[in-house]
Amino acid sequence: MTSEAKVAIVGAGRVGSTLAYSLVTNGSVRDIVLIDASRERAEGEAMDIAHAVSFHTPVSIVPGELADTAGAAITVIAAGAAQRVGETRPELFQRNADMLKRIVPEVARINPDGLLILATNPVDALTYLAVQLAGLPAGRVFGSGTVLDTARLRAELANYFHVDPRNVHAYVLGEHGDSEFVAWSSGNMANLHFDELCRLTGMCSTSEQRSAIEERVRNAAYEIIRRKGGTNFAIASALTKIIEAVLRDEASVFTVSSPVDGHYGIRDVALSLPAIVDRTGVRQVLPVGLSDEEQSRLRASAAAVRKTLESLQ
Ligand code: LAC
Repeated sequence: MTSEAKVAIVGAGRVGSTLAYSLVTNGSVRDIVLIDASRERAEGEAMDIAHAVSFHTPVSIVPGELADTAGAAITVIAAGAAQRVGETRPELFQRNADMLKRIVPEVARINPDGLLILATNPVDALTYLAVQLAGLPAGRVFGSGTVLDTARLRAELANYFHVDPRNVHAYVLGEHGDSEFVAWSSGNMANLHFDELCRLTGMCSTSEQRSAIEERVRNAAYEIIRRKGGTNFAIASALTKIIEAVLRDEASVFTVSSPVDGHYGIRDVALSLPAIVDRTGVRQVLPVGLSDEEQSRLRASAAAVRKTLESLQ
């Protein structure tokens, strides 16, 4: 599947360059412009990836500047500081917020008809800030949120039950970070609710078993960063699927991050909730049923993101 679409990626570090490569192998776009504060890094990554194109569907990938976001269907912000070993995502906020203040208004001015997808962390707080900085119509600015965490959960549960992850339907919600949680009450595998599935298999029926699964998902990034210094492949695949849903107008449901406008009594913050993603961006947030405990965990997550936002100087 190829489209005539152009995607701009701001940030040619681990995530941005892996995303560019993923888009080339996925064949979902026609033009990619790779932008970085280091022009040489953007050039080097674009050159290296361009040499892979002859093995895939034709696509143009070139280095560029912010001005080259003009005409892009989507601009992905993957620039900024990434977590170092033991560092939390909120600890990146001030540095990356300062970077967003320089980039987002400029991109929105250059490309007022495009979408903006945030991948930089802390992604929920930065998404909320970017929505304000961009001043674009609702839905056109959103973040990768817990799409990656939901994929990690599905991988965990699929491994647990020896089934295809695509048959595991469960969401990680809230902040993409330490306050995220699994919405067990709305999860199922092949239409078998987890309560029933866990009772039948004895694999996830106790709260201790479920907490252990949640902990592994929640701490996955720390464990990977401790071993290889950063994460890039799964987040790049998550972004690629989100981009594909936009470009193909798929109306797919992802737990992307976007401003919560009163759902569960929460306002003035962006959180990762199931939402319909199509060519307009986030078309609609789906207020899925949550247990009382899950609703209080969502509110706690909202408070954590709001605390990060309030720390902005
Ligand atoms: C992770 C980064 C993308 O969770 O926050 O791998």
